[in-house]
Amino acid sequence: PGTVPITLRVNGQSHAVQIDPRATLLDTLRETLHLTGTKKGCDHGQCGACTVHLNERRINSCLALAVMQQNAEIITIEGIGGLETLHPMQDAFVEHDGFQCGYCTSGQIMSAVAMVKEPWGKTDADVREAMSGNICRCGAYPNIVAAVQAVRR
Ligand code: FES
Repeated sequence: PGTVPITLRVNGQSHAVQIDPRATLLDTLRETLHLTGTKKGCDHGQCGACTVHLNERRINSCLALAVMQQNAEIITIEGIGGLETLHPMQDAFVEHDGFQCGYCTSGQIMSAVAMVKEPWGKTDADVREAMSGNICRCGAYPNIVAAVQAVRR
């Protein structure tokens, strides 16, 4: 009762699910589809831990209603690399120690993968500005910037 049937396209696969129409995309990914790589930090659009791609743009999935995303192509952290090979941005985060506790990392990486295709300037300050929606409580910012720059160069 109180749920609606929808179909979501996530990481190239269609999922027919029954959800509460008030459910966020973040909660639906995590709790209905069990794709728990996408993290919930603030649940209010302020930390970026929940970043996913919606039609190739980065969004905070905690601010999107799942029921509105029926014709969208959604990509999560589970969908950017493979089981055997990491995405180049994942490799760069490993190489440059772009994390400490790792909680913000999937959001940082999803944001960074989208950001490198956006028309930002080339300096470290530009990367910090472009990535300012992704908060890292451990303060790993210098290494995150180094990882992103390694992929851009
Ligand atoms: Fe979505 Fe923090 S959990 S921005």
